[in-house]
Amino acid sequence: MEAIRKATVIGAGVMGAGIAAQFANAGVPVLLLDVVPSGATNRNALAEGAIAKMLKTDPAPFMSARAAKLVTAGNIEDHLAQVADSDWIIEAVVERLDVKQTLYRKLDAVRKPGTAVSSNTSTIPLAQLTDGQSDAFKRDFLITHFFNPPRYMRLLEIVTGPQTDAALAKAVEACADLVLGKSIVRCKDSPGFIANRLGIYWLQVGVVEAIDAGLTVEEADAVIGRPVGVPKTGVFGLIDLVGLDLMPHINGSLAKALPQSDAFHGANRDLPLIKKMIADGYTGRKGKGGFYRLNRTGGAKIKEAIDLATGDYRPEQKPELPELAGAAKNLRALFSSNSKIGRYAWRVVGRTLAYAATLVPEAADDIPAIDEAMRLGYNWQWGPFELIDKLGVDWFADQLAQDGLPVPALLGAAKGKTFYRIADGQRQYLGLDGAYHERTRPQGVLMLEDIKRNAKPVLKNASAAVWDIGDGVLCFEFTSKSNSLDDQIIGLLGKTIALVQQKYKALVIYNEAANFSVGANLGLAIFAANIAAWGEIEKLIAGGQQVYKALKYAPFPVVSAPAGMALGGGCEILLHSDAVQAHAESYIGLVECGVGLLPGWGGCKEMLSRWSSSGLLPRGPMPAPSKVFETVSTATVSKSAAEAKELLYLRPSDGITMNRNRLLADAKARALRLAENYLPPKPIELKLPGAAGKVAFQMAADGFHRRGVATKYDLVVSGELAGVLTGGPADLVDVVTEDQLLELERAAFMRLMKTPGTLARIEHMLVTGKPLRN
Ligand code: NAI
Repeated sequence: MEAIRKATVIGAGVMGAGIAAQFANAGVPVLLLDVVPSGATNRNALAEGAIAKMLKTDPAPFMSARAAKLVTAGNIEDHLAQVADSDWIIEAVVERLDVKQTLYRKLDAVRKPGTAVSSNTSTIPLAQLTDGQSDAFKRDFLITHFFNPPRYMRLLEIVTGPQTDAALAKAVEACADLVLGKSIVRCKDSPGFIANRLGIYWLQVGVVEAIDAGLTVEEADAVIGRPVGVPKTGVFGLIDLVGLDLMPHINGSLAKALPQSDAFHGANRDLPLIKKMIADGYTGRKGKGGFYRLNRTGGAKIKEAIDLATGDYRPEQKPELPELAGAAKNLRALFSSNSKIGRYAWRVVGRTLAYAATLVPEAADDIPAIDEAMRLGYNWQWGPFELIDKLGVDWFADQLAQDGLPVPALLGAAKGKTFYRIADGQRQYLGLDGAYHERTRPQGVLMLEDIKRNAKPVLKNASAAVWDIGDGVLCFEFTSKSNSLDDQIIGLLGKTIALVQQKYKALVIYNEAANFSVGANLGLAIFAANIAAWGEIEKLIAGGQQVYKALKYAPFPVVSAPAGMALGGGCEILLHSDAVQAHAESYIGLVECGVGLLPGWGGCKEMLSRWSSSGLLPRGPMPAPSKVFETVSTATVSKSAAEAKELLYLRPSDGITMNRNRLLADAKARALRLAENYLPPKPIELKLPGAAGKVAFQMAADGFHRRGVATKYDLVVSGELAGVLTGGPADLVDVVTEDQLLELERAAFMRLMKTPGTLARIEHMLVTGKPLRN
């Protein structure tokens, strides 16, 4: 397999359909096959139904409606021979050995030799899957274990057998990494591989210990959540999310496959409550609820939780747990506390970490594989060995011994050491040989995290830093809370532009936080408004406009590389960049209207310019302002980078990187390409409809208001937006310059900022995180 031109996924269930969608998201045509339903007139009904269902699923498996067209539905009776065109065939049928083996034999007869075949099994060992298959099949076969949902979960566990062709496995890995954007963790052919083996143990211990200690589900989730670096769904919330009905299946198969000496058996207990919940249809969020549910009886929506002792639902209770204050910073104190919560935290986390230490080398070759699997498969902030380092290896081993729990050999071997250390600026891990080793990044992966470990920033202040990323390229990193934008960032951007101009070739704007930027710091804005520091606010707006304009016209290329949210002022930075290299999971939007404002850092101007020159609209002065009005007045945020292209937040020529870890390298390469013979863009002039156009927008907005779609204050905000987008009082024949548009943005922004309706929206957003519909 060289480049992947076409793929086939067999089994159009939850996983198969989602995996097919991810191929399509990457632009790879994919054939999706399932069985022919008995008595059906439409023989492709299952695969077709799966595609239709995905188009309605939230969060969406498809990154764009266009991607969905790349999936072709079929069935295994009529279309199996078509797999001969595929470079990679993924089997994701029911978890039954006999069904899988029968399918493999049929596949082997029709596939092209050398085509990779992989199974998405979560529990069946490779040795069993390939038992009795041809040697040629064994050479081309491996396990590729995706996580649910396949678009959003970055982990891919890969297991190869003794006969798997090494070059073929490498090609599959390269495709999974570069094309599908997955992070690969190689696992041994042992039951449950890594993430489920440890994750299921953790969840099981979490449930059993909570029942034994008489904790509420809320208490349990509050402690086995944020304080220990686990998503706030904790244990019970996570089981609701993945589905209660999956638990007995996976537990059962692990119980069958693991030797009696394995600690799993000590935690695996029959839980009548869970059995009853499943029987009653309480399978989790996909069903009528699970440990938590939304009670809609009587028209009200009441959040409820189950009482673990009685099995009855009661209103959700926010637990009062003083011992959790500051716990994340002092885990030792939490784990050695004698309170009910402290004991529970230790019983669950302590045993889970100890279990992790027994899995090397049985399930994984090394420690980082386990940490990576848990970070990516369960969104843990720290992997088990990183957590043990936080606690101290010796302290942890002593605690286990004091509790009468067995101390795993790996902890003994690490006595007096840490599992990770920094040496010569490199992060190293403790190997089974007792020596420290480096984990080299795959080729084409450049992480700011690594650069920062070895260097001092070229420039820095409280909200941003600038790093030299080599070859004459600087990287501007936001470091403020949620990467919100403030005067410090604007100031440092100005300095950076001057510095690049003197000594460097190009600038990349990038960071490794969850979100590129959530936009301007609203807390500062409301503070300034409350003391009527209007001059300060106006200065910040004008300063931002100038710096963004300077970015655009700088004599060197600027490439922005967002991942996660790029909102408001964060989106406006993208709009002023020469090119954007976006992570596929970028959520981009001008959301200012939601808080009663409008884009004031050149966002209106740049969007107008994009739509005017896009060639996508009919001629005339109205279509571009209309399009921008539609997008901006509704604070539309793209649900992917692909969708951002449809909204022109990104240009058609902007790049998309599927693998988050490859984003910086791709952005840097792009910046260097642009730096050859670079010429800054030409200034823009626009013909806008003027006052008459504004009236048309207002009439449309009034219509929305009458139909109850727009609120009263929406009319005020959209009125100001319409004024800017139509070019102000200027006449139709007038040409509007960039500076005039900036002036209009600024004046409208300041008027809104001084209006109580806007202040109420901002305050509401800061307090609740949700927009106020006043
Ligand atoms: P599912 O039950 O949602 O879908 C299975 C699909 O396979 C069904 O549409 C069924 O009609 C089809 N099927 C059955 N026999 C077939 C055959 N001979 N040829 C073609 N299609 C056939 O199951 P799900 O959850 O998607 O699981 C599929 C595989 O992925 C299993 O091996 C499972 O262990 C594994 N897995 C599941 C995860 C999950 O969270 N659900 C996570 C990771 C792996």
